[in-house]
Amino acid sequence: MATLQLNLPSITWPRNRPVFRSILRPVQCAAERQELFNRIAPVYDKLNDLLSLGLHRVWKRMAVSWSGAKEGDTVLDVCCGSGDLAFLLSERVGVKGKVIALDFSREQLQVAKSRQRERLKECYKNIEWVEGNAVDLPFPSSSFDAATIGYGLRNIVDRGKCLMEMSRVLKPGSKVSVLDFNKNTHPLTTSIQEWLVDNVVVPVASGYDLATEYQYLKNSIREYLTGDELEKLALESGFSAAEHFEISFGLMGNLVATR
Ligand SMILES: C[S@@+](CC[C@H](N)C(=O)[O-])C[C@H]1O[C@@H](n2cnc3c(N)ncnc32)[C@H](O)[C@@H]1O
Repeated sequence: MATLQLNLPSITWPRNRPVFRSILRPVQCAAERQELFNRIAPVYDKLNDLLSLGLHRVWKRMAVSWSGAKEGDTVLDVCCGSGDLAFLLSERVGVKGKVIALDFSREQLQVAKSRQRERLKECYKNIEWVEGNAVDLPFPSSSFDAATIGYGLRNIVDRGKCLMEMSRVLKPGSKVSVLDFNKNTHPLTTSIQEWLVDNVVVPVASGYDLATEYQYLKNSIREYLTGDELEKLALESGFSAAEHFEISFGLMGNLVATR
């Protein structure tokens, strides 16, 4: 209970709803995850580059392209973290478009805002950062032309609720693009993925005193959904079509779902 109370003040809930209205354990998990992302915020970008050898930039470009965002659109990036996908979306929709980027980690949003201040491209002024929860989006229904969520859905306790919310805020016919690690059905790829976490990710993260934080990654991939399960969940959450694509020999995956 003490943990819950400690975490309450750091969340902004624009809809003025009761924060902890459901059962205890999942919310405690969400609060723990929020703390985790606050802690890793200062080195998150550097570690992404190191651990993926820069490939995460390519995967993120693919995710944005799959979202179908185009010039002049109003688009949403959920679990924006330090803003990589939001910046890419901003380049796509241009100065006439608008990007809303949401996250519940205040520290991640601070990093995103300072990156926005440092970057000179005119279009980046079209990004608005919102502190909020992915399972209770503070936006009216049918307000966005496209949406992305990168490495976010895996970290969310109620993934169905998050997809339902994303479907609600998208205009009919619009798409969400969900990029994340791929939960493999091939034992060899799973072994490679887990070997990489144990022998590359955790040792590198321990150099930044974040070994425990990154050990969490292996279990979170194990507990995530396969491509088929993601497609099924999207259809159950209000999307009319869903297709999952494997990327980079099945190490990553991208779900594309149409409202
Ligand atoms: C692994 S980071 C990904 C950040 C960014 N999308 C990227 O690809 O670099 C996951 C982000 O999801 C956010 N997050 C997790 N659960 C959330 C929730 N329920 N509501 C809002 N943000 C959440 C975390 O704070 C964190 O910034």
